[in-house]
Amino acid sequence: MEPMTRTVPHLSILLLLLMALVACNATGTGDPAASKIDVRPFGATADGTAANLFVLRNGRGTEAHLTEFGATLVSMNVADRGGERADVVLGFDDVSGYESDANQYFGSTVGRVANRVAGGRFTLEGRTYQLATNNDPNHLHGGDRGYSHRMWRAEPHPSLASVTFRLTSEDGDEGYPGRVDATVTYTLTEADELIIEYSATADQPTPVNLTHHSYFNLAGAGSASVLGHELQVNADRYTPADETLIPTGAIESVAGTPLDFRAPELIGARIGELDDTSALGYDHNYAVRSRALKGGPGAVMAAGPVAVLSDPSSGRTLELFTDQPGLQFYSGNFLKGAKGKGGAPYAHRSACCLETQGYPDAINEPGFPSVLLMPGEEYRQFTVHRFLVD
Ligand code: GLA
Repeated sequence: MEPMTRTVPHLSILLLLLMALVACNATGTGDPAASKIDVRPFGATADGTAANLFVLRNGRGTEAHLTEFGATLVSMNVADRGGERADVVLGFDDVSGYESDANQYFGSTVGRVANRVAGGRFTLEGRTYQLATNNDPNHLHGGDRGYSHRMWRAEPHPSLASVTFRLTSEDGDEGYPGRVDATVTYTLTEADELIIEYSATADQPTPVNLTHHSYFNLAGAGSASVLGHELQVNADRYTPADETLIPTGAIESVAGTPLDFRAPELIGARIGELDDTSALGYDHNYAVRSRALKGGPGAVMAAGPVAVLSDPSSGRTLELFTDQPGLQFYSGNFLKGAKGKGGAPYAHRSACCLETQGYPDAINEPGFPSVLLMPGEEYRQFTVHRFLVD
């Protein structure tokens, strides 16, 4: 198992503040006090709990909208090369959409264990745990009502254009052992970076693997297809999987396969050459080069992007940085035209996800980087989305 680092409380918040100040100076867009948060009503859940929309805004007018339900990114409004803004992530107009069956983890924080666990089963210290097999025959994204479908407690930090969401996941939650206290902090910087910082502690050994599940279409959410986007993934290897998307345990080279995105390539260029699996397109875990970096967002960004997604028509580009060993690239294959924000239909392959995380089924694969969190340790993750134009 890889060692987990202990960190000084609040050090990361100071680092975020420093980055925001550096970004202000670097870009010349001025006053950090201009960054702020508006809080708006976002409807109520079926049990009558009111939800809020936290609108983070920077001095450039870029906005990130977040809600406590699922600690979810609802909207990300970024400029194109002509300065025209569009919302580039899929989602819903209020919290009821996120509670509905049409919600395919849009923009959410996924846990306790993102991705799949084979047969929903694992053994820890001699005891076998059976989780929900909500993606028959496997467990997917934390179960029937994982972290993506829970009300987190919000703590806005208006001077930083930042919100922290907190969730307590009790012992036995969705069948997992031990209580987990998790936080996720989103911070929008003056340089159009959305920094996502995760932390978690547990009172018993338990697997923890959190991810962010935004669906991106850089031409604007609701645009017809993402196949004309260009993608680069800085990974030499991936984890081949069976027909139920459970890794075989092997880690193989992407060379000579349609998974090779080491040089930028259109998503649609080779999607038809993929082996015929139930994935129906790209739905693969890459072993990315920047694995197991420690040291906060600065170190993560200095290591360079693990993926770059760009839309030639608008010029919008997303660079993704992470300290995680895995990147699930999913080409929106299971989108079926359900209506999202403003009534826009979200068609098959009309958006894609780039999910930074541990490897799928790592709890059952001793050869994969461990996702086990022990009492007294702290789970940490930094993932940064940087939006630019070409
Ligand atoms: C992940 C999985 C996909 C799919 C989506 C949600 O990205 O890898 O197979 O389940 O979530 O629909």
